[in-house]
This record gives sequence, structure tokens and C-alpha cells, in this order.
Amino acid sequence: MTLTEHQRRAYLEALSIDVWVPRSDAQHDAELETAQIVEQGAGQDAAPGGGSAAGTTPVDALDWHALRDRVAACTLCDLHASRTQTVFGVGSPSADWMLIGEAPGAEEDRRGEPFVGRAGKLLDEMLRAIGQRRDDVFIANILKCRPPGNRDPKPAEARSCRAYLERQVALVEPRIVLALGRIAAQNLLGSDAPVGRLRGRQHALGDVPLVVTYHPAYLLRSPSQKRKVWDDLCLARRILTERA
Ligand code: URA
Repeated sequence: MTLTEHQRRAYLEALSIDVWVPRSDAQHDAELETAQIVEQGAGQDAAPGGGSAAGTTPVDALDWHALRDRVAACTLCDLHASRTQTVFGVGSPSADWMLIGEAPGAEEDRRGEPFVGRAGKLLDEMLRAIGQRRDDVFIANILKCRPPGNRDPKPAEARSCRAYLERQVALVEPRIVLALGRIAAQNLLGSDAPVGRLRGRQHALGDVPLVVTYHPAYLLRSPSQKRKVWDDLCLARRILTERA
């Protein structure tokens, strides 16, 4: 049986296998995505009383509140059908530290806030160790909606959500980004290297320094790795202080 390119991609994505596409296709995807986001936005930003709406505003021009509304109404991928609500992120919109995880789990989907389960408690402890509270930093995820059964995000889902995260980073203007775990690190850095190879050094997300560390859920299973996470947090703090 010969598969069409479309069928091949759908098949690979269903198996959560990354689909590598030539740059020209990737650019096409990005253009398509922007077009979808603009189209989806039509009519959603209507001013009360029916005045002129910024409904076709591209995501990269939305302010914080309009971005939050756009995310809450998003139907760009199938996850919108199974979510209880979107999980936009939590914390200060002008934070120095931005932490990016993978995707909401069951508890986060119910409560509309990232990292509220056991992994979230550990994340709060990690923050406390560097003198930060949840309200001081901004915490977001690669995906705003929960993947069913807590499976890994599919590449197409991450692509659909990417513009929202990029806009959050642009608006928050963090001084340091911490990527929590493999999914966040690989998506943000466009890499397929394991966390063990990405952590312990400085990367960049645009012009913002980025440090990779283990996901708190992994730490719950492998507490012996806490020392490495502490080293990564110290590295991030050092980078931030040196750039001050
Ligand atoms: N794991 C994540 O990566 N993000 C959450 O919000 C919760 C658990």
C-alpha cells in the first residue's frame, strides 16, 4: 500500500514519532498556523457593544488579556475537544524567571493552573530554594491543553501552541528561562538530545538565556538527581546575576 505524504505524517504523528520536514515545508506550516490563528481570532476580540474588533489581530500583536482570551477559545488542535479548560500559566507577567514545562495533567486541567499536583509541590520547593515563590515567576507549558491519558504532546500540537508561548515570552520578557524536562527542552531548543546532554550549560531562546533541567515529576521518581537540579538552578541564578 502506498501512503500519501499526508497519510504518512498522520500515521507517524499518531505514533508520536517526530516528523522532520524540509525547512520550506516547516515555513509553510508556520504560515498556515498564523493564518489559522488569525482566522480563529476573527470575531473573538469583539469590543463590548459591537464596536470595531481587533478580531484578526495576529497572536504576536495581542496584549496579555487578549492573548489569554485567544488561548481560552483555541480550537487549533484536537485537544480542545477533551479539555476541561485551557491552562494559560500562572505567576507574574513581568517575571525575571520563566519556567516552562510540558503540558497540563489531570489536576491542572481541572484547576486551570500549571503544576498543582505532586510535581508542582516539588517545583514550589525548588523555587523556594532559590528565593522565589510561584507568584514571583511565570510558569507555563509547551501545551495549554491536557493530552488525554497524559501522553506526550504530539509535534503538531506543540506547533499549534507555539505562537501562544512565544507571545507569552515576548510579553513577560524574562531574564532567564528554565526548561523543565525533555519535552520542554527539546521543543524549545529544536533538539532531540536527552536532558542529560542539554542540562548544565547555557542555551538561548531568542535573546533570553535558557537553562535545561530535569522535570519535577522525574525527580519524584529519581530523587538522587536532585543534586543536579540544584546545580542547574544555581547556574540559572548565576547567569541572571551576571547579566544584571
Ligand atoms: N507537568 C507539566 O509539565 N506541566 C504541568 O502543568 C503539570 C505537570
